Amino acid sequence: MVKHRNRGMSSSTRRFWNVPVRRGQAALLIAMLAAGSLGIRAATPAETERKIDALLARMTLEEKLGQMSQGVFDGLADKTKQEIRQGRWGSLYGGGTPAQRAEAQRLAKESRLGIPLIFGEDVIHGYTTIFPIPLGQTASWDPELVRQAARVAAREAAGVGIQWTFSPMMDIARDPRWGRIAEGFGEDPYVASQMAAAMVRGYQGDSLDAADSIAACAKHYVGYGAAEGGRDYNTTWIPEDLLRDVYLAPFQAARDAGVATYMSAFNDLNGVPASANEFTLRQVLRDEWKFDGFVVSDYNSIAELVPHGYAADARNAAQKGIAAGVNMEMVSTTYWDHGKALVDGKQLDPKVVDQAVREILRIKFRLGLFDAKAQFTPSTATASTADALGTAKRLAGESLVLLKNQNRTLPLAKSIGKVAVIGPLADNPLDQIGTWASTEPNTVRTPLLALRQALGENRVLFAPALKNSRDTSHDGFVAAVTAARGADAVLLFLGEEASMSGEAGSRAYLDLPGAQEALVNEVSQAGKPVIAVVMAGRPLTFHNVAEKVSAILYAWHPGTMGGPAIADAILGDTVPSGKLPVTFPRTVGQVPIYYNHMSTGRPAAESGPEAENRFTSKYLDASYTPEYPFGYGLSYTQFEYTNLRVSALGMALGGSLTVSADVANTGKVEADEIVQLYTRQMTGSLARPVRELKGFRRIHLKPGEKQSVEFTLKSGDLAFHKGVHLVTEPGRFQVWIAPDSAAGAPAQFVVTP
Ligand code: NOJ
Repeated sequence: MVKHRNRGMSSSTRRFWNVPVRRGQAALLIAMLAAGSLGIRAATPAETERKIDALLARMTLEEKLGQMSQGVFDGLADKTKQEIRQGRWGSLYGGGTPAQRAEAQRLAKESRLGIPLIFGEDVIHGYTTIFPIPLGQTASWDPELVRQAARVAAREAAGVGIQWTFSPMMDIARDPRWGRIAEGFGEDPYVASQMAAAMVRGYQGDSLDAADSIAACAKHYVGYGAAEGGRDYNTTWIPEDLLRDVYLAPFQAARDAGVATYMSAFNDLNGVPASANEFTLRQVLRDEWKFDGFVVSDYNSIAELVPHGYAADARNAAQKGIAAGVNMEMVSTTYWDHGKALVDGKQLDPKVVDQAVREILRIKFRLGLFDAKAQFTPSTATASTADALGTAKRLAGESLVLLKNQNRTLPLAKSIGKVAVIGPLADNPLDQIGTWASTEPNTVRTPLLALRQALGENRVLFAPALKNSRDTSHDGFVAAVTAARGADAVLLFLGEEASMSGEAGSRAYLDLPGAQEALVNEVSQAGKPVIAVVMAGRPLTFHNVAEKVSAILYAWHPGTMGGPAIADAILGDTVPSGKLPVTFPRTVGQVPIYYNHMSTGRPAAESGPEAENRFTSKYLDASYTPEYPFGYGLSYTQFEYTNLRVSALGMALGGSLTVSADVANTGKVEADEIVQLYTRQMTGSLARPVRELKGFRRIHLKPGEKQSVEFTLKSGDLAFHKGVHLVTEPGRFQVWIAPDSAAGAPAQFVVTP
């Protein structure tokens, strides 16, 4: 609810949020004040626009450029205090204490126009309670749980005066060399769209102005995940059809979910930097999607228009950034430094500035920052609630992907004698939480801690073997082998440490770093069942290791509650149900490798006569198939898919049909299964991918139970882009209901004109 205070009057003006307004506007404003103070309703959009008009009418150009500037919060140095009073900053981010943020807001309120700051922060996968990295969250295929996690993060962040998170990151990534694959939702636009919308809803809640809602930021707009060679910040070339079908899709889903802000990316897209790209920022975002919030640049990305070779100098960079529609500049100061000269020199239309500021103020109003929200009572971050920890544990559990389970090695019987817990990630709190997270190490529950709690200290033989994932020393191997020999099963916690993924975390090799492979070789000679639990920010290649161990559980970087979630799965209290949100290559040389690729004129075959044909699309020295396909993941039970059927042989354009299959739990434990719906268009005016995900459902089946799983497929679900046009073409289609993107045999249907 909006609460307004009338702060004094003069004969010709009244003050409205510290803004002097003319007599003509006063009646309206008083009516609005009354409505708000009685708690009747929030301002209508028209009222908000009028409030913005009133502010814009009073703002100097400097104050406007201030709103368009975001700095790093330095914890309130004297200079910053002074600048806040002068309206130099629209936003600050990334530092300070809750008390300092509260003080900064108080100073902003005292500025000439009393415009509040908006405090941003990289709350990427939790604030106090850390959830799995977003790629791991996606492996849960559980958007509702992902929404709940974002809700927890919003509550924790809002409580300490953060009003805006630079999340969700929704860059489609087909290249695991790119370290930022950890921060996104994987390779598929459909799953990514579901997750993007879920996170936006979680952060923003039912109403943006609620005390526990924060603004979300859809980033990095757009194409950043297609960086050539997987090298961070690198060039991207994406044809418009692909851009719209794949890379823009989650951003559009975020828009549909009401996301308040976007962040423009570092990369150049087809030669035009994303942070000055009028096509994506104006035509797509504003004209087509009617987005009315604001866009913030990425860190320094306006100034970086110069090294891109796109702007001549800082002044030209400011001109191009503002003209393209980047409302707020993060860290670099070209808008502030050159905005006035650009306006004076008639190189920048003041109306464009006003519009940019209007969109920033609009979000500040929607957030309720002009009301009580900015004047929060400072509190230091409190400990995670039991509820938050419960959500974190569930999500970490659901994101576990069982990749191998030879002879049902897992789960271990609770009656097992001793287990050896070995490896650099068994008891490493900060590496366990992954990129873009910081927390008190003692709040993180590691696998070692959880297993000791579950089994008792003396049944757990611990030997880290390596100091960290990159350690190349074999000095700890003797102790590890001794532990393995003395145990009934070996749990090896392998992977890559947190700093090896995330921003500027690109890798040219995807193997387990350091001496981890050698460690597996040594330990496996102890003759005990070896279970590898891999924590990583990306798909790693570990073909040789996979052959030497009996079971592999992929845990990503699972966050605060990773240890208990993993221990539960290992001991059979839960059953792994996660599925891969990204294809796992056998070797880095296969990259890019993704499930929704085109067929080619010479598709390779694994069996039949074509398997021997050299002149098909494959490698001489490695398979063309992935180590594990998109959507893959095992369970402690088995699921059988039968009786795939479509409700009709075809549908007309604009129509729909249902696709169903029976899924049965043929094993011995009850468990969740993620059932996936894929289609392929067989012919058309453009070649289309060999499979595209169109739906999924998490179901729960008891042993022996069978369920008919039904999806409704509308002809519009088959649409694809030809430039700006979204088309559905009549023709033949294949459809699968399958446990992963490589399994199952298709049914057929046609779409008729
Ligand atoms: C740069 C990163 O690319 C972006 O994701 C992040 O939000 C900003 N820095 C702010 O930290």
